[in-house]
Amino acid sequence: MPESRCLQGIWSSPWIFIFAASGSAVGLGNIWKFPYLIGENGGGAFLLIYCACLLLVGLPILMAEVALGRTVRSNPIDTINDLSERRVISRFWVLVPWIAGLTGFLILTFYSVIAGWSIGYLERAISGDFVNISQVDAVRMFDHLLASPGEMLLWHSIFVALVILTVGQSVTRGLAALVRILLPVLIVVLLLLAGFSLEEGYSLKAIHFLFRWSWQDVTFGVVLSAVGHALFSLSVGMGAMFAYGAYMSKRMSIARACSAVVAIDLIVAVLACLVIFPLAFAFHIDLDSGPSLAFVSLPIIFGSLPAGQLVGGFFFLLLVIAALTSAISMLELFVAWLHEKFYIARFKAALLLGGAVWFIGIAVLLSFNHWDSKVLFGLNFFELLDKLTSLIMLPLGAILLSLLVAWFIPRTVLRNEMITRQVGHFHIWYNILKYISIPVLVIITLAGWIGV
Ligand code: PHE
Repeated sequence: MPESRCLQGIWSSPWIFIFAASGSAVGLGNIWKFPYLIGENGGGAFLLIYCACLLLVGLPILMAEVALGRTVRSNPIDTINDLSERRVISRFWVLVPWIAGLTGFLILTFYSVIAGWSIGYLERAISGDFVNISQVDAVRMFDHLLASPGEMLLWHSIFVALVILTVGQSVTRGLAALVRILLPVLIVVLLLLAGFSLEEGYSLKAIHFLFRWSWQDVTFGVVLSAVGHALFSLSVGMGAMFAYGAYMSKRMSIARACSAVVAIDLIVAVLACLVIFPLAFAFHIDLDSGPSLAFVSLPIIFGSLPAGQLVGGFFFLLLVIAALTSAISMLELFVAWLHEKFYIARFKAALLLGGAVWFIGIAVLLSFNHWDSKVLFGLNFFELLDKLTSLIMLPLGAILLSLLVAWFIPRTVLRNEMITRQVGHFHIWYNILKYISIPVLVIITLAGWIGV
């Protein structure tokens, strides 16, 4: 690839890639979604299956995406076009980056609404609304937010504006530096909160729930949820990591960097459960209450903490920033493409796409109130987008992308890319991807779809 087609710059240190990729991975998926998925899917069994999915499917595919991104150092759409024009791969594969980009775009339409809730809760935390709040009031507060489309629209608009402003800049600038501070602080705050929650809440019950294994909880639906969430949480299967791979220095070990990202992502998710579950048990909050779980439990925790107003405000601020660093990676693929292919200024491209996200987001936020009953397959619009992206588009994107990498891109191209000093590592990864990740993902996805 000629140098002019390179994206903005190369990460200057290995850590910067890890922080930037973790910035994309760690977000609402870890703190808001993971606890309620565990709650809905029976606890420990889900956690164990999830860990297996991270290792056997998420990590190898993450490495594939990063490796491909680094090989070509261009946006995925042009890359695949280029390969198909040179007849290295067939025309069919041109579809893959489009599915990936569309998935990110669609995820952002509801992600920004949930991130908007976090901004709303940031405001409530600072105003002292959580002080000594009871379980009933916490539920009422959340229901009140859901019943106020005007308020949700305000927060949603603010979040989308933040995304547009950030994506409008170059990704390398400032982002990694921000995440470098954010991540350790987020982990320390979660650790402290988990300590408090375990001390004050029903810790034994929570730990038992989180780590118990029961065969009855294992169905193909549960396994598909776990694999879908592993992809969602690692931001894999939609081109975001492809873009970050393109910025990665050639000297860096992809295996090591990606393993670090997976570990950080898992640690944050488990910590979030250790914060939420003990107090949720103590306050008799239904663990399978779905998307409301974190937004009902967290105010109770901050309400009973000394200096909870400050800590709560700080926590929701961190959550909003974490959501922002994830959200920008969802738009990156299309923004980079519009910028590189049509020379549209990044800001204009971000405005165009962000505007569309904002517009569709309105339908999402209305699905929590006025359009609650507008259902297709028994789901409202939010649920439909969530399930469509997590259970269909992300697995499909990941399957196609890994098929492309493992079976169609010449092996030597990748071999050179995975320049680990030990050749053995390359073979292990390549064979796991080929013979474990892809078949497992295909079987789980198909079985989950058919509802076996
Ligand atoms: N991984 C992010 C999270 O856990 C969400 C995300 C999904 C980001 C897909 C980018 C792409 O919150």
